[in-house]
Amino acid sequence: MFSFFSRKGPTTAYINSVAVTVNPNETLLQAALRNGIDFPHSCRVGGCATCKCRLIEGQVKELTQTAYILSDEDLDQGCILACQSVPKTDVRIEVDLSRQAAKRRISGRVLGQDKLTHDIVRLRVQLDESLPYKAGQYAEIALASQPDVKRSYSFATPPRADAQATFFVRKVPGGAFSSRIYDEALVGQGITIEGALGDFWLRPSPAPLLLVGGGSGLAPLLAMLSEALDARVERPALLLFGARTQADLYALDTIDAIAKDWRGGFRFIPVLSAEAAGSDWTGRRGLVADLIPEALVPGAHAYLCGPPPMVDAAQSLLTRAGVPREHIHADRFTTLHDAAVAVPA
Ligand SMILES: Cc1cc2nc3c(=O)[nH]c(=O)nc-3n(C[C@H](O)[C@H](O)[C@H](O)COP(=O)(O)OP(=O)(O)OC[C@H]3O[C@@H](n4cnc5c(N)ncnc54)[C@H](O)[C@@H]3O)c2cc1C
Ligand code: FES
Repeated sequence: MFSFFSRKGPTTAYINSVAVTVNPNETLLQAALRNGIDFPHSCRVGGCATCKCRLIEGQVKELTQTAYILSDEDLDQGCILACQSVPKTDVRIEVDLSRQAAKRRISGRVLGQDKLTHDIVRLRVQLDESLPYKAGQYAEIALASQPDVKRSYSFATPPRADAQATFFVRKVPGGAFSSRIYDEALVGQGITIEGALGDFWLRPSPAPLLLVGGGSGLAPLLAMLSEALDARVERPALLLFGARTQADLYALDTIDAIAKDWRGGFRFIPVLSAEAAGSDWTGRRGLVADLIPEALVPGAHAYLCGPPPMVDAAQSLLTRAGVPREHIHADRFTTLHDAAVAVPA
């Protein structure tokens, strides 16, 4: 029997009419997966919107602010994030399970590991067959030698006919996957990639573009820009790239090549947050998001990618500057650390 009364004990979630028991403090996603439902998900920490579903009846407690991740249309339709929703009553939700079924898993091998900075490596992979994706999306990657350690990485280039894929991986201190990719010699080793995932891609529009990337967050932005360049897109673009010091800047040759052929005017501004005061750097200093108020042109559509604090700061500055939510697109590079902080035991 469906109950609307708030309860401390287990509740029941009807997921596309299938009844599932949800334990106290359990999220809808955790309950669905525990009960064998192949519920679409990826980051599990409210950062990717893959677990988006529609709340038809009942109430949930939301663990994080979801308004930045979900569009106005999603919110109007009563969408919630299953990984961030703990039922307060019995609930009824609808989810498109075909999205998970459409995810493909393709094997391949590591072609190259090019160290771009002291902590970012370009991982090149030869896949056994092409994986269709939109520039800006990401995939879950696992090494064949450690299949249970699976992490999300954004494609750094648009899809290629030769089924090669490229990722920028930042070595996270204490990180199980990224340390291996940066430190170990993996060329020739087996790898699987699963995707494509995410809602981050360039929406067609003539509006000026404001792209803001931090660290390895440059990857999907460069993929989008390269794809747009090939498609002869013509719109003004400003790329803000946040890094700590000059030693953290990379892919400048790729950015130069895009800028040279871009139609509609291209500007690139690197912003350094920890460059030594007396150094020879004559460019901008500070936090990249803080440049937004002066860089923003009327009517611009924003694409933000990188560490969650940078994305969150940029989103709130854009909102305060009056940019409508549907014109702000973001991908947050959340980690297990963020998950441990955000999701209750
Ligand atoms: C949609 C999306 C796209 C992404 N794209 C990229 C990309 O293109 N490039 C990129 O570099 N990264 C990207 N990331 C981040 C990436 O998926 C990994 O999270 C990151 O590389 C760290 O993985 P790891 O295995 O090295 O670290 P993990 O082993 O996952 O650990 C991460 C950090 O958390 C700490 N930690 C681990 N477990 C716990 C715990 N239980 N409690 C507290 N702390 C803990 C570790 O010490 C470490 O500091 C993306 C993330 C998302 C969600
Ligand atoms: S899995 Fe829920 S937002 Fe990523």
